[in-house]
Amino acid sequence: MPFLVPSESIDSESLILVLAFGDASLLEARCVFGGGAKVLARCDDIAVADLNGVRFNRCAQLAGVHKVALPLPPVGSPEFGEAITFPEKNFNFSVSLYCVQGDREAEYDELSEELLLRLRELGLRKANLIRSRSGPELHSEKVVSRSAMDFVVFPMEATNQWGVTVYVPETEAFKERSKERPYITSGISLSSRLARLLVNLSGAIRGQVLLDPFCGSGTILGEALLKGVDCVGVDRNHGSVERAKENLSWLLSHGRRGEAPPSFTVVAGDATNLRRSLGDRKVDAVVSEPILVPKLSSPPSLEKARRLVRHASAIYSEALYEMSGALKPGGRMVLVVPSIRTADGKEVVMSFDDLHEARLRPFQPAGAPRCEYPLQVSHQSTRWVRRAVYVLERV
Ligand SMILES: C[S@@+](CC[C@H](N)C(=O)[O-])C[C@H]1O[C@@H](n2cnc3c(N)ncnc32)[C@H](O)[C@@H]1O
Repeated sequence: MPFLVPSESIDSESLILVLAFGDASLLEARCVFGGGAKVLARCDDIAVADLNGVRFNRCAQLAGVHKVALPLPPVGSPEFGEAITFPEKNFNFSVSLYCVQGDREAEYDELSEELLLRLRELGLRKANLIRSRSGPELHSEKVVSRSAMDFVVFPMEATNQWGVTVYVPETEAFKERSKERPYITSGISLSSRLARLLVNLSGAIRGQVLLDPFCGSGTILGEALLKGVDCVGVDRNHGSVERAKENLSWLLSHGRRGEAPPSFTVVAGDATNLRRSLGDRKVDAVVSEPILVPKLSSPPSLEKARRLVRHASAIYSEALYEMSGALKPGGRMVLVVPSIRTADGKEVVMSFDDLHEARLRPFQPAGAPRCEYPLQVSHQSTRWVRRAVYVLERV
């Protein structure tokens, strides 16, 4: 039950998004809400969106949010008590604090005390504060499992902006798909949730065709299929092709009934010679993670990081023209690239020099501030090898 209140009853024009994958989540929200809505980044984990008439239930398409909250008036103001309908009996509540640079624990204690006192003032004597053991935030799964009224709070323009969580995505479904499909290749596959975000970035919709030319066991293709998008997968490894086919058949057999199922084709082939596999066929979107840098047991030197990224770049460059050639003009190409944090704290990330010659340009969503690529997938990863994303557009 991802909507904590019925979505029809929400008429707020402003939303607070708690981002799961940093900048990549922000771009996903811009793609899903479209040009009418305005999404403003406020700090690492939080974005505020003005929907401008876009329907609230589009939030259900977002894979990259932990929570969606509605803004509230200041806790001390008379309007605060009128802005929410509180349960009449005992109820659980939580405070989830974001974007604080200083002493998060002290700030959390102060804000939860302020809220608790205010709830008491409003006559809510049996409101029970649930504290998270893992920091000043109640994770979205816990918000649902504990039926908590979750108050989010973050600093904004010299004050604190409060909000109440109204939607959390059904992440369990993503986890189940990752765990239960016939072939799990956890070492090389990205999570279903991230794959869905990438598909959303591509803008592919029901009835269109998406290509993953390095498809592995088909995680990206699977998320596209579940959105009703027809899929084409290519992999040079015959075993991967068979595994992807089995996974995709399994997904479709578990899909919703009553809708015409999308179709898929997976073939053995070389992404650096796609014409041989696809002929003159053109697709609406390309989404792929062509290479994973091996896991490192310690942060590498700058020299080693550059060497690893150079090696990866060669594979992308070889396939770039072919992928672009298979894409319809205006179609998007979403590529995951490695980003390596070095021992001296530098970030070494892949870049493309030859976009123009490949008839590609960085995708910029309409009516939004310019996107600087690559987008880091998350700000909070502690690993040294991370993911970053380019979204390119076929000219
Ligand atoms: C990082 S894995 C992709 C994993 C995939 N996203 C998944 O979820 O399973 C990269 C895949 O690209 C394939 N591959 C590598 N070079 C290739 C090439 N030149 N053409 C086609 N496939 C290639 C590998 O066999 C491997 O399955």
